[in-house]
Formats: sequence, structure tokens, C-alpha cells
Amino acid sequence: MELPSYVRTVTEELSLGYSISELRKTSAELTDKYRSNIKDGRRLAVSDRDALVYALVRMPATFGAVYSALSCASEGMEEDIRSVFDAGAGTGAAGIASAELFPVEELVCVEREASMQKLGQTFYKSSGHQCLRKADWVSSDLQSFETDKKRDLVTASYMLNEMSESDRKASVLKLWKMTDKMLVLIEPGTPEGYSQLIGARETLISAGANVSAPCMHSSKCPLETDDWCHFSVRVQRSRIHKQIKNADVPYEDEKFFYMAFTRVPVNNYGERILRHPVTEKGRITFKLCGKNGIRNITITKKQKEAYKALRHAKWGENAGVFD
Ligand SMILES: C[S@@+](CC[C@H](N)C(=O)[O-])C[C@H]1O[C@@H](n2cnc3c(N)ncnc32)[C@H](O)[C@@H]1O
Repeated sequence: MELPSYVRTVTEELSLGYSISELRKTSAELTDKYRSNIKDGRRLAVSDRDALVYALVRMPATFGAVYSALSCASEGMEEDIRSVFDAGAGTGAAGIASAELFPVEELVCVEREASMQKLGQTFYKSSGHQCLRKADWVSSDLQSFETDKKRDLVTASYMLNEMSESDRKASVLKLWKMTDKMLVLIEPGTPEGYSQLIGARETLISAGANVSAPCMHSSKCPLETDDWCHFSVRVQRSRIHKQIKNADVPYEDEKFFYMAFTRVPVNNYGERILRHPVTEKGRITFKLCGKNGIRNITITKKQKEAYKALRHAKWGENAGVFD
């Protein structure tokens, strides 16, 4: 998974204004701020250099996570996504993923940091997608933003974890009110990200939302209390990313978790694959989650049809229905 080339071109050009040691220093400072974030809504990436480093270091991974989440969440959706609202848009990862996946005609991005917004707008202006070039960026806190208009798709990626618990709950309900078809929330694939989105799931089920992915049911999550649901996407590292992070490997695996909610119940049949399937000679073992809870199943080559259907199945995909 890789960000579109126009984003890479813009970030590479802007990086020429800084030395690698300056970018490294900012990256280390940002990492510290995100790690020690006490979730009280305080500002994290504030300067132009912060925004650029965010786009160089984190945006490839957040884009990969949002793209994967939206792809899974929209599986089996019959209606098109034509309008999108992105909350805490940052440098625009979710808008780009939406434009790549859906026939988007209208996009609204709410972002409170001027430097993040400015860079996101620069990316959007250099894109070939009409909806990105004419996106409406609103400088505002989500809490004070008001609209009566509903959009087909509402997204909030890697934002809710920056809020206090009470603001998060109010924001999730607010985002649901703005949703016409589907709301997708994406957070880091950590125990904390999982627990925050499971909290959002409870809040939204009480508000009448239908859970459409990754869960195949709206019952209580059947995972053990010391486990957490998450997924993984492999993201290419650019040369400059490797330099800033002192990394040798040309990719990173971003762990993320997401929850998708729809207005209309979806036919979410089947079972979700949790964890990488374990492949041994002539057999594959899957950890699956579905309406009847969690189970481990092993498919052997002798089960010809099932083996053929599942031999390339991946962590996070729907394994379908089989016994
Ligand atoms: C970690 S960044 C994620 C950016 C982008 N969504 C992505 O996935 O790459 C979080 C963004 O949310 C913005 N943000 C946090 N709380 C916000 C709020 N209450 N209202 C509007 N924006 C907010 C921050 O300024 C920041 O740009």
C-alpha cells in the first residue's frame, strides 16, 4: 500500500527546505507528544514543520489503515458513496482514500490545526480527483462545528483518541447524526484504540446504529478481556521516511482497528479472520469471529472447495460461510 504519487511529490519537494536532522528532531518530538498524549484535547501537530513530518512519517500508515478499513467496510454495500465528511482530517488521508475507492462528488474536511489543513489542501490541489480539488476545508473544532446536512460517508481516523472520554462520546453521537449511510471510525490497533472503539460501538448501538464491520453481529464482543481485535496493513516506506526513522526495512506494518456503522442493516454474513492464518503443509488454520463467537478451524487440502476458496484469504477478510 502506498500513498498516491502526487502526495509523495509534494512532501519530497517541501522536505528540501529542511535538513534530515531537523526533520528527525521534529519527528522525535512529535512521537513524544503522541506517546505522552493525555487525551485532554490538547494540540499536538501545530507548526508547518510538524505537519510536513506528520505527512512524511505517519500519513502513509494512516492512509493505508483508512483505505483497508473503508474497503472492508464497504464490501456488500449496494449504494454508492457520493458525499463524504471527514472529521479531524489532518493532512487529508481519509479524503484521499475515499476518493480512490468511491465515486465521491462532495467532500467536507473539518480540521482545527491551520498547518495540517494547509498541507492537506496542497495535496488535494495537486490531485487528479475533482472532489479533492474542490473539497471544502473547515477550520474548526469538531465540538463547535454545526451542520444539518448528512453525508453518505462520515469518517474520523486517528482522531478520537486525542479527546477526553466525554468529548469522544459526544463526538461519536454527533458524527452519527451527520451520517446518511455509513460511519467509519479508525484508531491505532492497540488495546486502547480497541477499547475506545468498543465504547463507541456500545454508544452507537444504543443510538440505533447497525454494526456492519468488522463484527458480523451486534452482540457483545466475544474476545477474552486480555485480547484485542485489530488488523494490519503493510505500507511502503519512502527513502526519506527511512532516513528520518533510521530504518532499513522498506516497509512497515501498521496495526489498526476500525468500526463501521450503517443506517440500513447490512447482510453481514460469514466470519471475520482474526490474525494471520497459519499455513502448514496441506492445511491452513484460521481464527474466526462470527455470530456464534470465536472459533479456530483448520481446512485441509482434502476439503477441496473450502481449501481453494480460502487458501489466499488474509487477516481481516471475511472468510464467508462454511462448516
Ligand atoms: C493524528 S491526526 C489524524 C489525521 C488524519 N485523520 C489521518 O488519519 O491521518 C489527528 C487530527 O485530528 C485533529 N483534531 C483533533 N481533535 C480535533 C477536534 N476536536 N476537532 C477538529 N480536529 C481535531 C488534529 O488537529 C489532527 O490533525
